[in-house]
Amino acid sequence: MEELFARVPLPDLLRAIDFDKLKPGISLPDDRADAVSAPFPEVEGMPRRFGTKIFGMQQGRAIVPHGHQNMASMHLVLAGEFHLRHFERVEDQSEHLVLRPSIDRVSKPGDLSSISDQRDNVHWLVATRGPAYTFDLIVVGLEPDRGFDWKMDHVDIGGAERLNGGLLRARRIDFDEAIRRYGKS
Ligand SMILES: [Fe+2]
Repeated sequence: MEELFARVPLPDLLRAIDFDKLKPGISLPDDRADAVSAPFPEVEGMPRRFGTKIFGMQQGRAIVPHGHQNMASMHLVLAGEFHLRHFERVEDQSEHLVLRPSIDRVSKPGDLSSISDQRDNVHWLVATRGPAYTFDLIVVGLEPDRGFDWKMDHVDIGGAERLNGGLLRARRIDFDEAIRRYGKS
């Protein structure tokens, strides 16, 4: 997905998803990010097994740290600027995830990132210049036998225990606590 979208000029994508029309529908709440569905036009030969959304947030608000299961997603910065962090999901424990930092960079319009079960599974985006927006393309239910389409696992990365070898042991938290701790900085 990253390779494919890297070939699309940003103005063309903004036009294709009607960004200017959708933007006023994104509410930019004080304590978190908001999202709206952003229908992607039909493309000849392209299967329709994906969803597309725009996430928007004021400066200082965040897509809070979380991982996913049975899902891959691609995120393209449309406007603003983010502090983008990704982590490899090294081990699942009952109350914690063991993580290895993998990406830590400034993400500007046109920059792409992605998550999957295989790579960079946990991500965290803080809007350092806003309002900031991403376009997300999401594929769920990758392995139908798992019995669920997708799951989200929020983690307290800031409070993580530091292990040897640069690993972090981050407590699993629920969505409300994730918003409270990381929604607004
Ligand atoms: Fe995510």
